[in-house]
Amino acid sequence: MSVTTNYLNQNKDRFLNELVDLLRIPSVSTDKSFEGDVRRAAEFIKSKLEEAGADNLEICETGGLPIVYGEKIIDPALPTVLVYGHYDVQPADPLELWDSPPFEPQVKDDLIIARGASDDKGQMYMHIKAFESMMKTDTLACNVKFMIEGEEEIGSDNLGPFIAANKEKLAADVVLVSDTAMLSNENPSITMGLRGLSYVEVEVTGPNRDLHSGIYGGAVANPINVLSKMIASLTDEDNRITVEGFYDNVATISDAERTEMNKAPLDEEKYKSDLGIDAVHGEKGYTTLERASIRPTLDVNGIWGGYTAPGAKTVLPSKAYAKISMRLVPNQSSEEITEKFVKHFERIAPPYVKVKVKPHHGGEPAVTPTDSIAYQAASQAMEEAFGKKPIPMRGGGSIPIVALFEELLGLKTILMGFGLDSNKIHSPNENFGLFNYYKGIETIPLFYKNFAELSK
Ligand code: BES
Ligand code: MN
Ligand code: MN
Repeated sequence: MSVTTNYLNQNKDRFLNELVDLLRIPSVSTDKSFEGDVRRAAEFIKSKLEEAGADNLEICETGGLPIVYGEKIIDPALPTVLVYGHYDVQPADPLELWDSPPFEPQVKDDLIIARGASDDKGQMYMHIKAFESMMKTDTLACNVKFMIEGEEEIGSDNLGPFIAANKEKLAADVVLVSDTAMLSNENPSITMGLRGLSYVEVEVTGPNRDLHSGIYGGAVANPINVLSKMIASLTDEDNRITVEGFYDNVATISDAERTEMNKAPLDEEKYKSDLGIDAVHGEKGYTTLERASIRPTLDVNGIWGGYTAPGAKTVLPSKAYAKISMRLVPNQSSEEITEKFVKHFERIAPPYVKVKVKPHHGGEPAVTPTDSIAYQAASQAMEEAFGKKPIPMRGGGSIPIVALFEELLGLKTILMGFGLDSNKIHSPNENFGLFNYYKGIETIPLFYKNFAELSK
């Protein structure tokens, strides 16, 4: 066993307790009332990086929530790894569906349960503990820079400008991120692509006020009925998206690559039973793995309007709303797709309603090469730690900043995540396996060692 793994084994309980302390801080970025807690989480990260031996620590103010920076430059001749992660979390709602309070972490059946356990506090903290393990055993093989942000869950709006303004400070050879999932603990995988995102909010207005649904019903359009029809028309009978030009720039994946991709051992029966569904659903002509990675989507995330309180009120509402997300794949552009959606939605609006579309945050898709030294270093590290070569797989989620690392810093990103889809990220009872937490802390130093060696 390496001295680094040995150090991990001697400090397991403390490593877990520290993560529990971090998870107790409700650092919800989207809700202003949590700003004090978000800042407390930033201070926590900064002090842990300092204790582990990082230099030049800083809480970098942006226009919004701060970025924590720290570094250890041991030898300018060695390669530099830029570690990115986020300490902000999604809101815990709906609270009543949690089996234990979201910010009172519980360890049960080898899982740590709390909001942020996997996304991304648990996974980000693995990097700080791996760094500590390397520092305390004198085995750090690369220079390292940490950039841990507090606005990932709200679109990272201030991180792009921060990177653009700090190119020299952030200069590195590769970006290393653990904020994605593996196929399973038995079948480790490395994410080699992420989808982009366009997110819009639509408002449909009918009459200028809520009306009696008996007096006016049947004679005046109901905006909720209209919105429902409009939404239904956004996909066709093959579950393809009907927005004009939506597929124009979608990169075609070769048959060879598709065949390779579908070799990944996804147990579809287990997939269905985990989710309590009797059948999967999606674009005609594609498998579940493909639908959730190489194909774009359009989903309603929320829909509201009219009377929703207990009991019944006979009302023909004035307005109806929905939040709609589109997941994008190479080479779609978030701005272009948003524009196409706005045009389409306005065009399909019938004359008896008015529509407004408000764009929210977006992000570009990303693909990371699998023929780089850094990928090889990650693949070997996982093979050493798991005893099995990881499968390269495209992920369905989005990390908007990854495309900007390439654009602004010219850097490729390695998405070496240790989560599982069963971690319930963004959902009640989010969890992270203790196995995964410790395996991550064991694997990360192997990446540094391999990357240094392969860079020689
Ligand atoms: N860590 C996730 C993204 C992720 C999860 C990618 C699992 C691949 C597998 C990240 O924190 C996230 O939730 N991103 C958001 C986008 C953001 C703009 C709100 C997403 O994908 O919805
Ligand atoms: Mn995340
Ligand atoms: Mn997230």
